[in-house]
Amino acid sequence: MKDVLHLKIPASTANLGVGFDSIGMALNKFLFLDVTTNDTNEWQFHHIGPNLEGLPTDTTHYIYQIAQKVAKKFDVQLPGLNIEMRSEIPLARGLGSSASALVGALYIANYFGDIELSKYELLQLATEFEGHPDNVAPTIYGGLVLGYYNPETNVTDVSYIDIPQVDCILTIPSYELKTEASREALPSNFSHKKAVQYSAISNTMISALIQHNYSLAGKMMEQDGFHEPYRQHLIPQFQQVKAMAKSFQAYATVISGAGPTILTLIAPEKSGELVRTLKREFNDCSSELVTINVTGVKSKILYQRD
Ligand code: HSE
Repeated sequence: MKDVLHLKIPASTANLGVGFDSIGMALNKFLFLDVTTNDTNEWQFHHIGPNLEGLPTDTTHYIYQIAQKVAKKFDVQLPGLNIEMRSEIPLARGLGSSASALVGALYIANYFGDIELSKYELLQLATEFEGHPDNVAPTIYGGLVLGYYNPETNVTDVSYIDIPQVDCILTIPSYELKTEASREALPSNFSHKKAVQYSAISNTMISALIQHNYSLAGKMMEQDGFHEPYRQHLIPQFQQVKAMAKSFQAYATVISGAGPTILTLIAPEKSGELVRTLKREFNDCSSELVTINVTGVKSKILYQRD
C-alpha cells in the first residue's frame, strides 16, 4: 500500500479594493494535487487540463523549489515524488494561483518530510515566502481573512470577519497579467495625507462589512487609493464592467488581486441577470458566479495498492 496525499486548495481574491496586501477571501475554485512517492529520487509532475499548460515539469517547478526550501529549513530529505496537478484556477489572473501552489508545496514538504508543522506555522512560512498574507491566509484558513506580515519580526498576525452574504461574480479576461508587472505600476511612496485618507476608507470598509452594510462597504471598496488607480489601465475592460455592474446596483466592482480578473459583489437576487449580461457583452472574458470558500485547504490521505 502506498499513501497518496490528496490536497484540495482554494483560489483566493485579494485586496477587496482597499485592503492592498492585507485582505483576502477564499473562493470555491480549486487546485487539486495527488502526491505519492516513487522509487527514484526524482520528482515527476503531471499536469492535467488547460490551466496548467506551459508549467515546467523539472526542478524549476515552483512547488519543487518551495518544498525543497522548506525541507532544507527543517533539515529533512524529501523522497522522489509523483505529483499530479489539476486546476480550476487560471494562472496569472489575480486569483491566487501561485499562493495555492505555494500552500500545496508547504503541505507536501510537511507530510513527506514528516515535519509536523501546525497551521499557524504553515501560515507564517507561507507569508514569509509570499511577502504578504492576503492570498495565502484565506487559502489556508478559508473565509475572509485580514492580516499583517511584519517584515522585521517575520511574524504574521491574522484576524477574521464573517463572510459577506453577497454573491460574487468573476470576470476573467483571456490575457494574463503577471503580478510583478502589475506591482511595477504602483508608486513607491505616498504622502502622509494620502495614507491617512486611504486608511480611513479601508477602516470604514471593514467596519461596514462587519455590520453587513454592503452598500457602504462597496462604496468604500470603490474608493481605493492604494492600487486600483494605478492598475486600471492594464485592464481595458475594467471601467466598462464596473459601469455595467453599477447599472445592476452591484455593491462594488474591484480588481481581484493584481488583476486582470474583475470581482463584483452584488445582492443575490440580482447576480444571475448581471452574470448573464456580462457573458453576453464581454465575450472576450469568462464571467461566472463563484461562491466563497469557508474551509480553506483540505488535505487527506488515500491508500492505493502498489
Ligand atoms: N496584494 C497583491 C497585489 C496580491 O495586489 O499585488 C497579488 O499578489
